Amino acid sequence: MQQLELIRAIPKAELHVHIEGTFEPELMFEIAQRNQIAIPYKSIEEIREAYNFHNLQSFLDIYYAGAAVLIHEQDFYDLAWAYFKKCHEDQVVHTEIFFDPQTHTERGVAFATFFNGFMRACADAKTQFGISSHLIMCFLRHLSEEAAFETLAQAQAFKDDIIAVGLDSSELGHPPEKFERVFAEAAQQGYLLVAHAGEEGPAEYVWQALDVLKVNRIDHGVRSEEDPVLLERLRAEAMPLTVCPLSNLKLCVVDDMQQHNIQRLLQQGLCVMVNSDDPSYFGGYMNDNFIAIAEALNLSNEEIKQLAINSFNASFIDSDQKTKWIEKIQQL
Ligand code: ADE
Ligand code: ZN
Repeated sequence: MQQLELIRAIPKAELHVHIEGTFEPELMFEIAQRNQIAIPYKSIEEIREAYNFHNLQSFLDIYYAGAAVLIHEQDFYDLAWAYFKKCHEDQVVHTEIFFDPQTHTERGVAFATFFNGFMRACADAKTQFGISSHLIMCFLRHLSEEAAFETLAQAQAFKDDIIAVGLDSSELGHPPEKFERVFAEAAQQGYLLVAHAGEEGPAEYVWQALDVLKVNRIDHGVRSEEDPVLLERLRAEAMPLTVCPLSNLKLCVVDDMQQHNIQRLLQQGLCVMVNSDDPSYFGGYMNDNFIAIAEALNLSNEEIKQLAINSFNASFIDSDQKTKWIEKIQQL
């Protein structure tokens, strides 16, 4: 099979996507107008022109500003539904979606408002496209431990529909250990655990995510390569790293896609896979990410298949589902 055809046809799971990061300028403009919220851009083109990031913080400033136009349940539904349409185009058959409650509750939007919008879109994606999904609630790490505990309490009524808690936002200066107690409490309550670590932050933050937070997956984790002992631990435990190539390029975690380490990590036997992170901001969805690394790193078809297999192995779906999808990939 031609490689482009394989990339398009292969079933994939997405494990690292922020729903607020799928907000396309066209939809942002439309929702801002219907909610009569002023944004500092006169046109869709101006929004796109503002996407000139040089690090994580310069991106986050624009990302939080964009999310501020989301007010009503329908806004959150529209946001998530637009993402599911992209999944359908890209043959993403399962997705585990991050959402940032504090980005919305801090503006006075009730937990039920965004959560019900997301849930309704997830249900429609299942019936209309056959796409399965989970929701992962992230704590903003630039905010306090106390604020994270408050968010955990607000989520109580929705707990059965949230598979895991995560940790995102500004990494440097906000090490995982800051959230040790809230992650322990979340585990007690039955949540699975993930955390962003080793994106801009050092390998030390990945150690903390493993040993202090006791996560089931590391989000990003690409800077683990700086520590061979850590790499061996990740390999031995088959600890997934949810790698996001176009994000790393756009936020200058790597200077050039040809220098991206996803292929090296894969070849060393780590459980890495491809994800889009904030696709509206970083230049592409799942298949765009696959195409970018396949071209830059000259990936083989076998490597593409292994990345897709890893995405299901690292997902939080049950083992029958994993087997079903992995067998389909192996037949391609
Ligand atoms: N929030 C949205 N995208 C993020 C990223 N790549 N890193 C940390 N926080 C984020
Ligand atoms: Zn992320």
